[in-house]
Order: sequence, then C-alpha cells, then structure tokens
Amino acid sequence: MNKTKDGTKINIGNVQEFGEKVGKEITVNGETVAVFKLSNGKFKAIENRCPHKGGPLSRGIVSGEHVFCPLHDWKVCLSSGNVEEPDEGCVKTYKVESEDDVVYIYI
Ligand code: FES
Repeated sequence: MNKTKDGTKINIGNVQEFGEKVGKEITVNGETVAVFKLSNGKFKAIENRCPHKGGPLSRGIVSGEHVFCPLHDWKVCLSSGNVEEPDEGCVKTYKVESEDDVVYIYI
C-alpha cells in the first residue's frame, strides 16, 4: 500500500483476472467496488450499489463507458458516476489503472 495524492494505491490483481466488459466485485477498505475492464483496455471503478434500489452494478451490462444496472436498467457513466437522464443520481467513482500487468485502485 502506498499513499498518494489520489488516496492509497492498492493492488487488486492481474490484468488477466479481469474479463473484458465484465464487472468484478471487490471489497477494499470496507468499500464494495465494481471494477470494469473496457473494450479499449482501460479500467473503471465505481461504487457497486445502484442509486435507485441498490442493484449490484458489477453484474450489469457494459456498453462503451456505461453500465446498465441489472435490476431496472438505469444507465450509469463509468467515468463520472452520473446516472443518465431521465433517471437521476450518482455513484462514487475511484481511480483505477494498470501498470505492468497489475491493476491498482486508489481509495
Ligand atoms: S436498482 Fe438499479 S435501476 Fe433499480
């Protein structure tokens, strides 16, 4: 663990452990986070709790930089954490990146 300006940098596994466009639920520092590897190879991480009724966003369908909640299909932006209109709300986002085949989250 390393403290940085973005938070504590924590190793959450190897790049190969993350399927493309498939969410993975992880728990770090008591927070439940949904981590996604996009088709462009970038990683995104958001709070794993839909602002509507708490649906597990890690099990949603990924499309581009968005995920659709598996319960009632709200569309959440993986970069901003904002819910797309006409619905409203937002989830917490986390910085996540890969470095030499290892994925790190800042929390
Ligand atoms: S709980 Fe996510 S859309 Fe309803």
